[in-house]
Amino acid sequence: MKTRALGTLAAVIVAGAMAIWMTAALAQNIGGTRGPTPLDQNAAQPPIPAEVNDDVRRGRAYPEQPPVIPHTIQNYEISLNANKCLTCHGRQFTQQSQAPMISVTHFMGRDDQVLATVSARRFFCTQCHVPQHDAKPLVENNFRDIDSLILTQTGVDPKQAVRRKP
Ligand code: HEC
Ligand code: HEC
Repeated sequence: MKTRALGTLAAVIVAGAMAIWMTAALAQNIGGTRGPTPLDQNAAQPPIPAEVNDDVRRGRAYPEQPPVIPHTIQNYEISLNANKCLTCHGRQFTQQSQAPMISVTHFMGRDDQVLATVSARRFFCTQCHVPQHDAKPLVENNFRDIDSLILTQTGVDPKQAVRRKP
């Protein structure tokens, strides 16, 4: 009985503290990606940054990362009727377009069986691949490449390991 009463008391104290904390947070400017504008006002809209279109393929941060798109994709249709991306990246078109072919995983069905054509699971390219914009990151990111982790923890530089030893 005593423990139950204590539990209830603790719950009341926690709820009270949360209520006070939330009121304080609402009263302040909570900031966030919209900047210091109060919640009941519209923030000034910055201009839309330019889409990167330099055709330089970007490195991947980890092996399973869908590569980012180094060219503009404005007005490229991906719908039931057409897929503009596949007109260059599809297997039949890469000799003409010189675009990298969608990799073999894009032909695999749910059971990893390789199909003759792109799997329905990979049809909507922009679900995974995104173009880049010339913009400052909205939030700080301290992601570290696995190579730099291996280097700090073992002293071995994986980049050197693939180079030919003299
Ligand atoms: C007119 C041909 C063309 C079309 C259409 C096209 N691409 Fe590309 N894409 C290329 C070429 C060529 C490259 C190689 C780099 C470059 O020249 O931009 C490339 C590069 C890429 C890469 C980088 C691959 C890597 O390994 O880094 C991705 C991802 C990509 N395209 C996705 C798309 C998606 C998604 C669409 C549709 C929204 C699309 N592309 C439409 C020609 C095209
Ligand atoms: C479900 C997520 C997903 C979808 C949808 C998807 N991709 Fe990918 N794509 C990936 C991943 C992950 C990789 C890198 C690993 C791999 O090859 O599977 C990749 C790799 C690629 C590459 C580089 C291939 C290489 O060998 O360097 C190209 C080009 C590409 N995708 C184009 C496309 C196009 C065009 C579409 C639409 C028809 C598409 N992708 C749809 C996830 C996706």
